[in-house]
Amino acid sequence: MNTDDSASPKCEQVQSWAHCGEPLVACYNTPMNVLIIGSGGREHALAWRLAQSPLLTQLFIAPGNPGTARLGQNVPVAVDDFDGLVDLARRIQAELVVVGPEDPLAHGLVDRFLAAGIPAFGPTATAARLEGSKAFAKALLRAAGVPTAVASTFASAEAAAAFVRTSGQPWVVKADGLAQGKGVVVAEDVEETLAAITRLSATPAGQQLLLEERLYGRELSVLALCDGRVLLPLTPARDHKRLLDGDAGPNTGGMGAVAPVDDVDADVLATVVTRCMQPVVDALAARGAPFRGSLYAGLILTADGPKVLEFNARFGDPEAQVVLPLIEGDLLAALLACAEGRLDPALLRPRTGYAACVVLAAANYPGPPRRGDVITGIESVEEADLLVFHAGTALSEAGLVTAGGRVLGVTGLGATLPAALDRAYAAVERIEFAGKQYRRDIGR
Ligand code: AMP
Ligand code: GLY
Repeated sequence: MNTDDSASPKCEQVQSWAHCGEPLVACYNTPMNVLIIGSGGREHALAWRLAQSPLLTQLFIAPGNPGTARLGQNVPVAVDDFDGLVDLARRIQAELVVVGPEDPLAHGLVDRFLAAGIPAFGPTATAARLEGSKAFAKALLRAAGVPTAVASTFASAEAAAAFVRTSGQPWVVKADGLAQGKGVVVAEDVEETLAAITRLSATPAGQQLLLEERLYGRELSVLALCDGRVLLPLTPARDHKRLLDGDAGPNTGGMGAVAPVDDVDADVLATVVTRCMQPVVDALAARGAPFRGSLYAGLILTADGPKVLEFNARFGDPEAQVVLPLIEGDLLAALLACAEGRLDPALLRPRTGYAACVVLAAANYPGPPRRGDVITGIESVEEADLLVFHAGTALSEAGLVTAGGRVLGVTGLGATLPAALDRAYAAVERIEFAGKQYRRDIGR
């Protein structure tokens, strides 16, 4: 990371970077301090990528993790301490704040930065409703003509249950609000549908419920940078949400991801962007709530073409750990352009090759994870084309220990998917901690 505060070396660096064949984006004469908010693998991947930017002066992460501490300065301010975060951004004279997780976005952290005159990458609370309310998202998709599953929204469990009994068939049951990946049940029969209605309606996220038709096909995540108007799609990725091999076991935040996805060619990606994503961006802009940030479309490739399962208003995790390493160009310049409403899609290009991320999870995940297990072997896997992103780790007197559900994301890069997977799995086997869980079939 560049830690030089003076103006001229920055310009020289941008210049020499331009000579490396990259587009000359800008020459900043002021320090470019950046604050990343969050502490997961996604935020470590963002820190790793932003630290490579010639525009960067100093990187701060709040609260960060032991991985981000090697790239910038961690500051112990929690993601829900909005006053503390705005104060921190002022103190470090942040030129850009990048908000990682969904909760602070949904609760209006970006609105707070904008009110304070601090540029922020991430949607306002109104635009983040695309993720924060599935009922809002479904209505918007319908109005914008985006292909998606047919769904009905219910304000009470009784009304939803009556609908199911009358229909005599199973439904996909979704809680309206943010539920950390636990708000969806793909029911196999009427009984399971009714049980899901009872369970989800008792959660804070389930005060409204959606009953949705079940769709069939392979799933896909498309993340795109957006400045409120223009989309810059990144390499399509595939997440593995279930805990166990063969897509068995409970849902998790994601146990691994690969990119690119070979069954998605340029035509499919173009269809996704023009039919599924751009109409949503246009609709939000027309409502006076332009989406500036990372727009994440969760899609399913049905026999009738791609359909939207959900939108997220942030980078996916672990998708970020495979998508960000496959970018050529200056991510910081692109995020700043999004925040300022002037994104040029030529700022970034896809890098050739593949990335595969295998998540190492703690004992008992996705239940309350066991903490404090000593992690060994990370130093022994440091090599080119291998990235170890920290998520739930902490430094203790015993050294590096587990401190969350998803502990590490191990990303291998390679010219082919098997090469990327081999590199990731070779490292996964050398990193040890008691209770280590991971899937053996990521990307296979
Ligand atoms: P969501 O949070 O809406 O993406 O849902 C989580 C997971 O549930 C998705 O990744 C799918 O595997 C599954 N899912 C959601 N909606 C549907 C649907 N309409 N048909 C089939 N599977 C679905
Ligand atoms: N990997 C799924 C998510 O970030 O929501």
